[in-house]
Amino acid sequence: MEKSHDKRFSGTDFSITCQRYLNMKHTPQRILSIDIGGSGIKASLLDPEGNILVDYRKTSTPVPANPEQIILAIKTLVADFPDFDAISAGFPGYVREGIVHTAPNLDNESWKLTDLSEILSHELGKPAKVVNDADLQGMGVVHGKGLEMMMTLGTGFGTAILLDGILLPHLELSHLPATKSKDFDQYIGEKALQEIGERKWNKRMERVLHIFKTVINYDALYISGGNAKRLTVPLDDNVKIVSNREGIRGGARLWKQA
Ligand code: BGC
Repeated sequence: MEKSHDKRFSGTDFSITCQRYLNMKHTPQRILSIDIGGSGIKASLLDPEGNILVDYRKTSTPVPANPEQIILAIKTLVADFPDFDAISAGFPGYVREGIVHTAPNLDNESWKLTDLSEILSHELGKPAKVVNDADLQGMGVVHGKGLEMMMTLGTGFGTAILLDGILLPHLELSHLPATKSKDFDQYIGEKALQEIGERKWNKRMERVLHIFKTVINYDALYISGGNAKRLTVPLDDNVKIVSNREGIRGGARLWKQA
């Protein structure tokens, strides 16, 4: 299936979307920022500086979590939002130029090569940019100095790395092997937490934090996601727990980058 003519979302006129995008000479003033997760989808409205204009609304991630269902859930979630002029979305998988390549914690197969930025533009009528969810969160929380790392602890394990505020994209560090049979995503994701309980999960987290500290040598590490609050391991001074609310502000940064 040709990406820009995805029949599941018929009527897409990609040229109109592109034109709208090219016509956007100024930084958008009201950005709809969407965080698509394995268990929930959140949306808020931001100003160009990332200040929250409309607080965080949330809905459950539909099952099956395929493109049709997710788009429907997003449309319902933002139906009564005030006007916005651009869209940013964080997606839980490998995304390149708005096109989804993997979605390990969603209905993976159905997402392959889905042009999510084009579909969101078409369905919501505004230009859209889509990046990995941890990348978007990272852009929301980093200070822009040195090597900063973001980790998200939710349904999956997300990572992002930024150097002086510039994102190093497409890193899927959570799919490095953690044991003979598990990658880091499986080792400390939500499913593992449910299976082994908080005490053992924290033991694993201690190991994971030690590995990434040794390998990445970051200046600062930020940790967010629903399971960040379950961490009981002692954290170094350069490690900070941050909220998803802070992370979603990365949607504004996305439109500031050239
Ligand atoms: C995906 C990452 C994503 C993370 C958190 C992992 O399964 O591969 O791309 O950032 O989950 O959602």
